[in-house]
Amino acid sequence: MKFYVLTTFPEMIEYIASVSILGRAQKTGDIEIIPINIRDYTNDPHKKTDDYPYGGGAGMLMTPQPVYDAWEAVTKKAGHSIRTIYLTPQAKVFTQSDAVSYAKEEDLILLCGHYEGIDERALEEVVTDYVSIGDYVLTGGELASMVLIDAISRMVPGVLSNSDSGKDESFSEGLLEYPQYTRPAVWRGKAVPEILLSGHHENVAKWRKEQAIERTRQRRPDLLEDTNESSADCPEDAIPGKLSEFDK
Ligand code: ADE
Repeated sequence: MKFYVLTTFPEMIEYIASVSILGRAQKTGDIEIIPINIRDYTNDPHKKTDDYPYGGGAGMLMTPQPVYDAWEAVTKKAGHSIRTIYLTPQAKVFTQSDAVSYAKEEDLILLCGHYEGIDERALEEVVTDYVSIGDYVLTGGELASMVLIDAISRMVPGVLSNSDSGKDESFSEGLLEYPQYTRPAVWRGKAVPEILLSGHHENVAKWRKEQAIERTRQRRPDLLEDTNESSADCPEDAIPGKLSEFDK
């Protein structure tokens, strides 16, 4: 899968893309992260990519010409249309299920705005999806684009070394992940829960499910409202507002 990142700060993308799991996935060819410098496409003699907003107001806006030309160069070279995501706080917040569905695309373009954003006419021409990473305002779209690339890449087959490790984790069933333990079996007087040492896979799975529900109930009860847990799977007392096993 190819990620084209349209940005005026390509160096912000390059480092994160080169290390850890993303760096490895680029080496194995499972993903490719291609920063495109919007400034390389400006027709302005001083290489400017921003200007004052019509109607006044604080800050500068990115001008439409270099944004459009950079986007057009990518799509022409690819030879097919590519879903184009504009990172903005003025959008629906990105979730794990969005990561799963974007991972099915062959290519993606991520458009990063700076200053006060991008001239609306350029956005109307190129953007297919508006995506926020949370209800707060960043100085630009680069960090947000890397959040998406990281979360989407993990869902691309081959990127995670253990193919199962993307499944049994927070949000994969609408629940937070259960607590995990490694050696030593006792640390600072705290023992690993007995059941995990039992070797009884069914009981371990049942315990983990209960823990996942309980953790979700405590930390993110809003998720239980939308979860598709059946009442058989989800003990009645795990429903927010009810007393659970763990509170008794
Ligand atoms: N750009 C600035 N703030 C952002 C946010 N919260 N999400 C995505 N892009 C942004």
